Amino acid sequence: MSRLDSMIRRLQAQRDGIEWAARRISDLGGDVLEVGLGNGRTYDHLREKLPEREIWVIEREPAAHPKSTPPSDRLLVGEADAGLAELARRGVRVALIHYDLGVGIADVDHPLAAGLSPAMAALLVPGGIVLANNPLVGLPEIKGPDTVPLERYFFYSKPDAE
Ligand SMILES: C[S@@+](CC[C@H](N)C(=O)[O-])C[C@H]1O[C@@H](n2cnc3c(N)ncnc32)[C@H](O)[C@@H]1O
Repeated sequence: MSRLDSMIRRLQAQRDGIEWAARRISDLGGDVLEVGLGNGRTYDHLREKLPEREIWVIEREPAAHPKSTPPSDRLLVGEADAGLAELARRGVRVALIHYDLGVGIADVDHPLAAGLSPAMAALLVPGGIVLANNPLVGLPEIKGPDTVPLERYFFYSKPDAE
């Protein structure tokens, strides 16, 4: 598959995954977290589909399109591990996380995603969802929308408290 086709599939997976997850969390309380603002495309889609939710964003080097720049009091500038720790310190609980970090090289991206997984899981409310561009560890994987091929995007849900 060409990198162009791969990019198109990635964008489709993000759009379909966000819309699917937004429906799944409709009965859950909690904020939303975008890890990796980039150009702000997925942030903008989250904002459009979940207008009633607070949306937090972690980004080491904010440079999004001006129309997709989060309010400064919801943007944590810096490394993802520090941002996740800061949200935990503030007592933020989230129903949905979109994780979108990486350089497209598994040997680099997988350890990063694995290392950040526990801190993301800790912020999630029971039943909360993570959709991720790389595999996470420690949360049960679930099937995402039918339109997203396995291994194209990764979906997880925090089990309900016992
Ligand atoms: C793939 S882009 C995100 C694209 C975005 N979701 C969109 O739709 O436009 C990843 C972003 O994560 C940021 N980033 C990468 N590693 C990071 C880290 N360890 N901590 C914080 N931000 C990071 C990069 O600066 C980049 O802007």
